[in-house]
Amino acid sequence: MAWRVPLADLDYGPEENQAVLDVLNTRWLTMGAVTQEFESQFASLLGVKHALAVSNATVALHLACLSLGIGAGDEVIVPSLSFVATSNAVLYTGAEVCFADIIGPDELTISPEEIERVITPRTRAIIVMHYGGYPCHMAEIKEIASHHGLDIIEDSAHASGASLDGRFLGVWGDVGCFSFFSNKNVSTGEGGMLVTDRDDLAAKVRLLRSHGMTSLTWDRHQGHAYTYDVVDLGYNYRIDEIRSALGLIQLTKLDPNNARRRIITEDYWKALQSSSLVFPFKDWSKKVGVSSSYHIFPVLLPDDIDRRVFMDSMRDDGVQTSIHYPPIHQFTYYRKRYPNVHLPFTESVASHEVTLPLYPTMDEAAFETVIQAIPKALSKQIS
Ligand SMILES: Cc1ncc(COP(=O)(O)O)c(C=O)c1O
Repeated sequence: MAWRVPLADLDYGPEENQAVLDVLNTRWLTMGAVTQEFESQFASLLGVKHALAVSNATVALHLACLSLGIGAGDEVIVPSLSFVATSNAVLYTGAEVCFADIIGPDELTISPEEIERVITPRTRAIIVMHYGGYPCHMAEIKEIASHHGLDIIEDSAHASGASLDGRFLGVWGDVGCFSFFSNKNVSTGEGGMLVTDRDDLAAKVRLLRSHGMTSLTWDRHQGHAYTYDVVDLGYNYRIDEIRSALGLIQLTKLDPNNARRRIITEDYWKALQSSSLVFPFKDWSKKVGVSSSYHIFPVLLPDDIDRRVFMDSMRDDGVQTSIHYPPIHQFTYYRKRYPNVHLPFTESVASHEVTLPLYPTMDEAAFETVIQAIPKALSKQIS
């Protein structure tokens, strides 16, 4: 489908092309010096002790759970209004999830009161997800976690470069997990990063991301080792040099691109203020100390608008829209596994939500195309 305005688009130029060619010319493709540089720059950007690059954010979340010792018999609290990976990562370990509702239509992040409600003697950790790059209520969540002796994992897939009270998202909890999937604010195609200040967790993740081996092919190539032992049951969750090189270039664009996303978001709010749409996070984003990465632009449709009709009308005008998210607990697999979950805010928001196009290279013509398509799409009532 050739969209006039896609949902997301890459900000790639000759510098990404050159970075890939530079890697090819070194003739070293798997995790090595470029990846180490990517990790080091990511860590210093966030002001965190350890950054470990991995294949994607899903495996970062899996490693986060494993490094915290989560497994069979444990429970982890997760939001249902997230990508399914947030919850799948817990199930991979043999633990179970407990779904918590969101704060409400104004803020689509996990509710601290809900976290308290679903804590049981088996609860080991909380995974928060900074929806759209808008921070969860971390101070409150940290207080609950420390009161109950729980660990915190931040699913920061949307939140590269976002911060709260002067501290980057991803470094508030025990472990933060970032995604570099191709529609993310830092795009490498597939890719992810796990960050932590804890030496014990970093050591465990380093082992588990590469088969539990005590040395890497890169170490042997450099003459630092001839052989290896396997000291844990690990995985191949490594990244490669091509993706790391793309990540390094993308990091240099993160600040200006997040600033550009912010301008487009504010322009949307202004241009659509007299429409019947509801804008989550509009007030929260204006609070002192809150700095989003504006990863996506969610809106809520009024009750009398059929979402399918709205999205079809936008499509007919060449505008791609999406839904963030079908709630995890309502997927067939999850309904069978957890049949009695009811989350009123999540269910209501998820049935009204539409995501409009947002990307840093979006120009005025593309923006205007979206704005002009909306009144028409809203005027098509349920037949
Ligand atoms: C909130 C959230 N968590 C986790 C993931 C998984 O990221 P990845 O595709 O890098 O595995 C995504 C990706 O879409 C996401 O949006």
